[in-house]
Formats: sequence, structure tokens, C-alpha cells
Amino acid sequence: MSESAGVIAPGRVAVVTGAASGIGLGLAERFAAEGMAVVMADVEEPALRAAAGRLSADGATVLAVVTDVSKPAQVEALREDAVRAFGGVHLLCNNAGVGGPHDALWLIPRGDWEWVLGVNLWGVINGLQAFMPLLLEQDVAHIVNTASIFGVFAGALGPYGISKHAVVALTETLHFQLRAAGARVGVSVLCPGAVRTNFGSSARNRPVEFGPSLAATEAAAASQQRFDRLSRSGLEPAEVAGIVVDAISKSRFYILTSNNRNDAVRRRGAEIIAGGPPAAPFP
Ligand SMILES: NC(=O)c1ccc[n+]([C@@H]2O[C@H](COP(=O)([O-])OP(=O)(O)OC[C@H]3O[C@@H](n4cnc5c(N)ncnc54)[C@H](O)[C@@H]3O)[C@@H](O)[C@H]2O)c1
Repeated sequence: MSESAGVIAPGRVAVVTGAASGIGLGLAERFAAEGMAVVMADVEEPALRAAAGRLSADGATVLAVVTDVSKPAQVEALREDAVRAFGGVHLLCNNAGVGGPHDALWLIPRGDWEWVLGVNLWGVINGLQAFMPLLLEQDVAHIVNTASIFGVFAGALGPYGISKHAVVALTETLHFQLRAAGARVGVSVLCPGAVRTNFGSSARNRPVEFGPSLAATEAAAASQQRFDRLSRSGLEPAEVAGIVVDAISKSRFYILTSNNRNDAVRRRGAEIIAGGPPAAPFP
């Protein structure tokens, strides 16, 4: 039996970050439908309260916790709230993420680097450090880190793609370490292709403390628009949630949501062996 069989079951507890919208909301809805208690964490309070209120009105057991995942103290507080409400946590989905600019790396202001890496990479690290001791105590447990298909092959999406490569590498490292420790904690990295969410407007959550963003060059704006168009034509979050639930129950490590980038994934390995350079990806 896989170490994560039994994680998705009535009475188990899931924590989902970025749960007010898109993929995170799809995951929260699905876990609730499976009879799990769901802790919904998000930085966008009105959307979080509205989403948690809807699930609760449908009979789900949910707790909404306003959390900025880039802030370690807030992620620690999230764990404390989850334990106080439900006694433990069996499933952690480090899913919150933001897009950021697609401009030339040397032009991107430090504030944008800090915002994107702070949420997309430090958010996952903070989740790991806050929750791992608790997950290790459970009879079964699983972590899903949301990266992107742009974390798997060579991309040109600015700090975003870089942060997602880091999340893939982090999750691979975690897998080796958990297996070496004989831990009963499964781990997966979700690498979605296009999904229909509010991701195109992630700048709505960019804190003012990071200063003004760069006025995008024409090329960066075109890349951003192609990326947003792609996302709008993608899967529904509920479909992604179904793929994730199936993958957890089978202890699948890499979770892809579509096969239309398989050639790009294969090509990366071939390019590295051949000495490259990488072929230009889309977008
Ligand atoms: N939509 C896609 O096509 C796509 C593809 C690949 C990967 N992803 C990844 O999926 C994840 C979810 O994105 P989505 O597409 O559902 O977008 P979304 O904007 O609909 O949802 C993201 C959620 O994260 C929240 N969030 C932002 N900053 C936060 C912070 N500092 N702390 C806590 N919550 C924060 C937002 O408020 C929002 O509710 C992201 O990690 C994203 O990179 C999305």
C-alpha cells in the first residue's frame, strides 16, 4: 500500500494555501466533498471569507485563516489555528502563487523579485518548516507543492519560472530526504499546464511595500498577454483537483495536468545532454 493511501478520507484534515481562488479553491471544494475538514488560507480576506462561507453553507467543515505565506510567523499561526480547530493536519497543499513581470531579468526591480520569490518559493519553504514536525507525527500524511509546467522545462517567464523550477527542485530534495528518514509522509509536485483561474490578475495581491512595478516593455506585455490567454483556455480548477486527488491516492510524485507539453519536457533532457542551448519555449 502507498504511504499516502487514506489521506483523502472523511475526518482527515487538509490545509490549502491560496484557497480563495482558482486551483486552491478547487482543491478545497474537492477535499470538503471527500468529507475532509479543510483549513483555507489566503492573503485576500474578502475573497477568502466569501469562499469559506459558500463551502460552509454547503455543509463543509472549513476554517478560514487570513495568511500571507511569505511571512513565517503567519504560517506558524496558521498551523496553530489548524491544530486548535481540528487536532492535526494530514494534507498540506502549498499552492499560493503569483505571476510577476516577464521583463528582462536585469531590468526587473528588486521589489518584484522579492514579491514573486517571497510568495512562490519562501511560501513553500515556510509551509514546510511550520508543518513538517506535525505531519511527521500523523499515521499518514502528504504534501503537495504547486509548481508549474514552466518549472519543468526551460522557460522565459521572468522570476515566476525561476521560482517554479526552485519549487520542483525543493520537492525532489524533500522526497529523497523523507524516504531516507523512513517517514510516513508522501510528497508530490503539481506542475499544471493552463488552468482557468484569476492568475492573470495576481498583481492585485502585490503589497505596496515592494515599491512601484516596472512599466512592461512591449515584448514583456505580449508575453504576459499570451500567458494570460493560455490560462483562460485551460482546464477548470475542479478538473485539476480531481487529478490531484487521484495522484495522492496513488503516491504519484510529478503531477502534470495535460500532455501537450510532453515534447518540451523530453526536449529539455536531450538539449542538456547535447549541450544546448535550450529551444525557445512558448510563450
Ligand atoms: N492558472 C494556471 O494556468 C497555472 C498554471 C501553472 C501553475 N499555476 C499555479 O497555481 C497556483 C494557484 O494559482 P491560480 O492559477 O489558482 O491563481 P489565482 O490567482 O486564481 O489563485 C491564487 C491564490 O493565491 C492567493 N495568494 C497570492 N499571494 C498570496 C500570499 N502571499 N499568501 C497567501 N495567498 C496568496 C491569491 O489571493 C489567490 O487566492 C499558483 O502557485 C500558480 O503559480 C497556475
